[in-house]
Order: sequence, then C-alpha cells, then structure tokens
Amino acid sequence: MKKKILITRKLLIENEEKLKKLFDVKLNIKDELYTSDKIIELSKDCDGILSAITDQFNKDLIEKLSPSIKIIANFAVGFGNIDVNAAAKKNIVVTNTPEVLDDSTADISILLLLGASRKVLEARRAAELQNWKWSADFMLGKQMSNKRLGILGMGRIGRAVAKRARGFNMEIHYHNRSQLSKDLEEGAIYHKTVKDLFNCSDFLSINCPATKETNKIINKETITFLPDNVVIGNAARGDVVDDEAMIEALKSEKVFAFGLDVYNGEPKIHPEYLKLNNIFLLPHLGSATKRTRWDMAYRATQNLEDFFSIGMAKDKVN
Ligand code: GLV
Repeated sequence: MKKKILITRKLLIENEEKLKKLFDVKLNIKDELYTSDKIIELSKDCDGILSAITDQFNKDLIEKLSPSIKIIANFAVGFGNIDVNAAAKKNIVVTNTPEVLDDSTADISILLLLGASRKVLEARRAAELQNWKWSADFMLGKQMSNKRLGILGMGRIGRAVAKRARGFNMEIHYHNRSQLSKDLEEGAIYHKTVKDLFNCSDFLSINCPATKETNKIINKETITFLPDNVVIGNAARGDVVDDEAMIEALKSEKVFAFGLDVYNGEPKIHPEYLKLNNIFLLPHLGSATKRTRWDMAYRATQNLEDFFSIGMAKDKVN
C-alpha cells in the first residue's frame, strides 16, 4: 500500500505528479497557509509530511502530531522552522534539501550586495518618476569590484558566493565554526573570530545557518567592528540580524547600504526599513528559480522515497 503524505504547500505541477505516482498524497490545491491545528488534523492519518519554511513545526505542534508520522521532509535547506530535537524525541526523522539551491542562493547574495551598493531601489524610484537629471554626482553608489568581501558562514552557499565574487576581483575573507581545507578555501582568508572578519570586510555577505550561536550575531557591538560605509547582504535568515541595531547603523550611514532577502517574522518587514533609502529588499527569493524549486521538490521526494523503502534518508538532519 502506498504511504500517505501531507504536502503542506502547492509545488510545481511536475513535482506533484511524481509525488502522486509514489504516494497517496494530500495536496494543498489552494496553497493555503495551514495553521498548526490544520496540520495536525490533516496529517492525522498520514505517514509523513512534506513541509515548507512557512510552516512552524514547534515543540507543541510536533508533540501533537499523530504517532503515525515518521518523517517531515522540509522543502528547504534551512530547517529553523522545525524543532528537530522535539522531532527526534518523537522518533520523527527530519530532512532538508541541501546543495540544490547553492547556486540560486549565491546568485541572490551577489544581487543583494550589488542592489544595495548601487542604490537599485532608490534608482528605480527615480527612473519611474522620469524627471531625473544625469550629473557627475547623481546617485553615486559604492563599487564592489576590487574590494574585500567578508563571508559569514562558508558552507556550500558561502563558497558559491566566493566563487562569484572572485569574478569581481574581490579579496575573500571568511569566518566559520572551523577553518576549511585549502582545497575548499581556494585562497580565501580565514578569521577565527567575527571581530577579525568584520574588521576587514568592505562588503559582508551573510550566509550562515540560523542557530542559537548566530542569533542576532549582527548587533550593536559587532557592527562597530565593521569599517565605516560597509555594504551588507543577508540571504540567510532574519534572526541573524538585530534589526534595531541595523536600522540605527543605516541611519547614521555607518552601514552604507543593506540588502535583505530574509526577515525577522517574515513576511512582515520592520517598518523602519521601509522608510530608508539605503536598503534593497527582496521577498525571500533565494531559491526562487524554476530549476531550483524543481530540484528541491525532487530532493524532498527522494528523501521520502528512500526513508520508506530503505529506512534511510540521505538528508536527515536530526
Ligand atoms: C530557503 O530559504 C531555504 O532554506 O531553502
């Protein structure tokens, strides 16, 4: 008999077709954002759940899930939306979708730095008004080429950002929990502390996972370690940044500009960000290409298939 899977969000049609062939699926045709109660109710008779980052699988929800649920396959590389320890206590395997979104997220990381440093939001507004005047000092941005790039979190995505930044002739610096092998570093310079990394980051790309250690790692104190007029891009998670401290730094222009794809409490955005010009905002598009979303769903499907057929899922995170 086919295993029964709750798919909490609408996927690309081709991915849903494949899931339908393999499993007895409960699709979310209208792509509603399910409440916790609805997830509990809908998954009552299921063996697994294919979840998305918009679902909050906290301890309370996990404890209330039916004992028949054996796996939550998250349709994302990040799994901060799932209490993986609570899941492990209930013998629920949690999986993610690593690797397949490295390129699209690295592309967005570069876009955030360029969009912020070259004032793309302000420029678009000016262009739309159609009354701008060219002048030698009109809307001058900060040049990214030939600068020092700090990468906070040199995992696969961070390294893909480094690869792109080398094309801009940037000098790559990074901080990570541990130093990478020379092969993986490809000439990037390791800094043991955040302070040391920040000291030499003209541009800073945030690509670390959201963990207890990285929560609000960009804060009032650490911002002071950065050079004046730094440009920062965050393609990781909103929790990594203390918004109040960042807004103050943007207002004083200690931070020249900030590009964000992710937010604390998204889809809400701190209202002060919306009032600033030195900001470049995207609505969490890191993995939003057809290719990548297809690959992510394929990977999540593979995790479900492997788990139910051989008892092991490649991307288990707990
Ligand atoms: C996107 O933010 C992801 O974690 O996949």
